[in-house]
Amino acid sequence: MAVEKCDLIDLAAPYWAGEAEVVSRYFSGPRTPETDLHWLRAQAFKETRHLRVLPPEMQEVYWVSGRVPDHPEGHGETRKLAEEMKHFELIAALITSLSGHRVTPAELLSLDEERKLQELRAPYRAGTEFERILIDFTEGGGGSMYEMLTRVQGGEFEQRIADAFRVILADEIIHGPGQIHALARFPLDEESWERAREMVVAIGRQRLRMRNEMFSFPLEDERIAAIEAGEIEPWPSPIPLSRVQ
Ligand SMILES: [Fe+2]
Ligand SMILES: [Fe+2]
Repeated sequence: MAVEKCDLIDLAAPYWAGEAEVVSRYFSGPRTPETDLHWLRAQAFKETRHLRVLPPEMQEVYWVSGRVPDHPEGHGETRKLAEEMKHFELIAALITSLSGHRVTPAELLSLDEERKLQELRAPYRAGTEFERILIDFTEGGGGSMYEMLTRVQGGEFEQRIADAFRVILADEIIHGPGQIHALARFPLDEESWERAREMVVAIGRQRLRMRNEMFSFPLEDERIAAIEAGEIEPWPSPIPLSRVQ
């Protein structure tokens, strides 16, 4: 299937726009240092996923020394881990500027909707190569939250948020939607594509709930339902689709 005919981006884009709406509603409403700490600690938890799957003694190396350990699965995984820990450190610096102390693993926030999202993804992460790349494709929700955070304005702290997420955005576009090129090359039958589409929608829906929970529920249940019914302008594709056949 050629990339421009692969409709997974079209299916995901309304949910990516929903994640962006969560962020814009949060920043246009009343926020406090506590609600900022809430979403930053929840995002910091997400960025440590690759570290948290390593044996405890390897995790300890990072928390004690700040050094990213070599991943047991080789160079590619080590590079990915280092990139995610770079994201963690950018977010940890924002947390520290609010809390006044260095971030500890105990203060990272594991929220219910995030746990449900990871449960949804888990069998696919352990599945076929196609399923693993499909899960990668859904990583970062099209980068829409990161993109919205690069636009945050206000004072010095808001500027620091924007600067941090500009760096994260550049990496996540490649981790996530950039995988569409790899997916489109798989020679799958129509039934398998249909399952892939259902998975992308299921993850999109759960990601929207995860983001809403992170940002202290700026979207009401009715608005979530409306987004799921398609009442939203889809998020524009973050990668050029016409370039690759
Ligand atoms: Fe990340
Ligand atoms: Fe990532």
